[in-house]
Amino acid sequence: MPREDKMKREEVDFACVIHPLNLQLLSEAFEDGLKRKRDSIVKRILHWVPPFKCSIITGIYSKDTNKKIKGALISYILLPEQILSSSQAYLVNKLIKTVKFAQEKLKAKIIGLEAYLPQIDKRGMYLRKALNVPITTGRNYSVAIVKKSIIKIAEKIGRDLSSLKIAIVGATGSIGKICSKIFSKRVGYLYLIARNEQRLKNLAQTLKKDLAEIVITTNVSEGIKEADIVITTTNTPYEIVDVSFLKPGAIVFDVSLPRNISQKCAESRKDILVIDAGIVRPPGNPDFHFYFGLPPGLCYACMAETMILALEERYESYSMGANVSEKRVEEIEKLGDKHGFELIEFMSYGRQVEIRK
Ligand SMILES: NC(=O)c1ccc[n+]([C@@H]2O[C@H](COP(=O)([O-])OP(=O)(O)OC[C@H]3O[C@@H](n4cnc5c(N)ncnc54)[C@H](OP(=O)(O)O)[C@@H]3O)[C@@H](O)[C@H]2O)c1
Repeated sequence: MPREDKMKREEVDFACVIHPLNLQLLSEAFEDGLKRKRDSIVKRILHWVPPFKCSIITGIYSKDTNKKIKGALISYILLPEQILSSSQAYLVNKLIKTVKFAQEKLKAKIIGLEAYLPQIDKRGMYLRKALNVPITTGRNYSVAIVKKSIIKIAEKIGRDLSSLKIAIVGATGSIGKICSKIFSKRVGYLYLIARNEQRLKNLAQTLKKDLAEIVITTNVSEGIKEADIVITTTNTPYEIVDVSFLKPGAIVFDVSLPRNISQKCAESRKDILVIDAGIVRPPGNPDFHFYFGLPPGLCYACMAETMILALEERYESYSMGANVSEKRVEEIEKLGDKHGFELIEFMSYGRQVEIRK
């Protein structure tokens, strides 16, 4: 094939920038080179790896317009703990190089930042200055999917939302804050949990007029013990939820990437359920041609937001900084439904689970 045609074939509509969620996933994705090396050496190597294309995403097309889009998975190859412990200047510089790679080499018209990457430049200030490509974080659609999942599970267990007690661990974060706003109008009790008490108080004040009884606490175990449903949405890769404090029958939606509750820990309580939250099935026959921890054809809601915007040809920085709002959550939810993005059947650590009353 002539070189020019080959280059053209590599052009994409959108790109999702991902980072490995843990060392195990990293070695599963890049089998050969890394498996035999010590963890500390692998971690050191990651600092030197330039941005690269993991794969081309194919098979996504809208159920509404039949529009087909092609995407790319781009690697920002640092682990969560490395992102948390490196300097912002280093991380921003690496991120700018990665986004430029997607923009210049693959001609991506919109770029999504997944998992911990939005934290690097929360308001998008540095990225906006250095780049002129729309960037989104997927947070609006992630909230939409959490909302949908909780409405669906309440139906399945035969409970009215207003009778439920919901705890949000990471309530003051980008996702947690909008979830708090949405559920404060719908549920009976809302427990808001984070480490910074002042931010919790500020958030609770903005919710004062709504329906739910609001309780704030910086103690995770205290905050979850009465809850029927717990949403974890924190920026810590560590296990911060002690499941022994959950009440029998409690259901946890672990939105955090990486997760806040390990399978081993969840299995120590047979009477609770930890759901793999924030996962959707894009329309068409999606193939990611790369393993990032989910069964074939599924993706995280944050990735799906970039796809929805590409299908709509809305090349704008949709979920950056203050752009995460209830209004946008509703809008992107409708657009996702229109194009055929679907909530998956409930799964727990990759296995489908049946929910009964
Ligand atoms: N499934 C999906 O599609 C999807 C999409 C996007 C993001 N995510 C994941 O969702 C999570 C949240 O993202 P975000 O952008 O909302 O993060 P964020 O804005 O940085 O918020 C993080 C929240 O966690 C709290 N927190 C951190 N450590 C804590 C601890 N030890 N105990 C209690 N609270 C703690 C923070 O408050 P304090 O600092 O005051 O404690 C804050 O409220 C991340 O893990 C991200 O990867 C998932």
